[in-house]
Amino acid sequence: MKTLTIIQPDDWHLHLRTGDILETVVAHTSRQFKRAIVMPNLKPPITSVVEALTYRHQILQALPQESEFEPLMTLYLTNQTTIDDIKQVAICEFIHAFKLYPAGATTNSDAGVNDLTVIYPILEAMQQYHVPLLIHGEITDEACDIFDRERLFIERHLTDIVKEFPTLKIVLEHVTTEEAVQFVESTPANIGATITPQHLLFNRNALLVGGIHPHHYCLPILKREKHRQALVKAATRGNPKFFLGTDSAPHITNLKESACGCAGCYSAFAAIELYTEVFEKEKSLDKLEAFASFYGADFYGLARNTQTITLEKKNWEIPSQYGRQENLITPLKAGETLSWKMK
Ligand code: NCD
Ligand code: ZN
Repeated sequence: MKTLTIIQPDDWHLHLRTGDILETVVAHTSRQFKRAIVMPNLKPPITSVVEALTYRHQILQALPQESEFEPLMTLYLTNQTTIDDIKQVAICEFIHAFKLYPAGATTNSDAGVNDLTVIYPILEAMQQYHVPLLIHGEITDEACDIFDRERLFIERHLTDIVKEFPTLKIVLEHVTTEEAVQFVESTPANIGATITPQHLLFNRNALLVGGIHPHHYCLPILKREKHRQALVKAATRGNPKFFLGTDSAPHITNLKESACGCAGCYSAFAAIELYTEVFEKEKSLDKLEAFASFYGADFYGLARNTQTITLEKKNWEIPSQYGRQENLITPLKAGETLSWKMK
């Protein structure tokens, strides 16, 4: 049987939520990943060190026994974030970054920032105190076509931010376009990007052809095939600026299969297997380990993991639902066959 052993990976962009589903999703993530950067877009958002530490405690409580999983916490950047908040994060070993959501860009982003120039003093402090900035890179202008929102965010905002704060560590989260890949490639090493499994596997046809597929709806939205191909190249060619971030974002099935369905794909149940399929198809399995287990840790200045995981080449069918009866979650590719399985 064909097997693949790699250093245990980390997930550099993850939504764990709270309440009943936390236990289900944290069990899935911790089975595969040693660490994960945990998104702060709860309702209400996590905006202070105390809230982040409380949330971290809830996550640790929800973990399966003997799990060694480490949640790496983040704070949600708002118009009210202060320089003192930045200083507190800089000295807190459990909090690793601030997440910037343009107001209204995605799920639970109402508390986000309206005018990015207003927070420039905060970005200045983040640069000074070496706190990374994680960006949901989409403009929110209602007149702007949803497929252009990432490209225009880069043109109108990110280019200036990178120029203005040349040593600020920035992760452009869940890149979805050729333009984003080219932009990140053109910048110095302090600018990185995460790539999700769904944006490597699917183009926008998967959302809209043959009926509407709500479980493929996430933000930034799936793009054309040429963009998917640019992402696959970026992920599989061994460029340390691009690393694994699932953006696994569970929503209860009813809220996805609805007249106004929520954005977010649930991939944590088999994230590493999903990525492995992409790398295998691209004949780049030798590049998987660095993408999944090295480049993100290196970018954040954290030690690489030392334990390993083993994947087996073996067909298995993805269940139609995960979770408890009242709170079922439909996984990405539900009911389909995956050809790799973690031992
Ligand atoms: C995320 C969520 O549900 O929290 N949804 C998504 O489509 N990716 C938010 C986000 O990361 O944009
Ligand atoms: Zn996300």
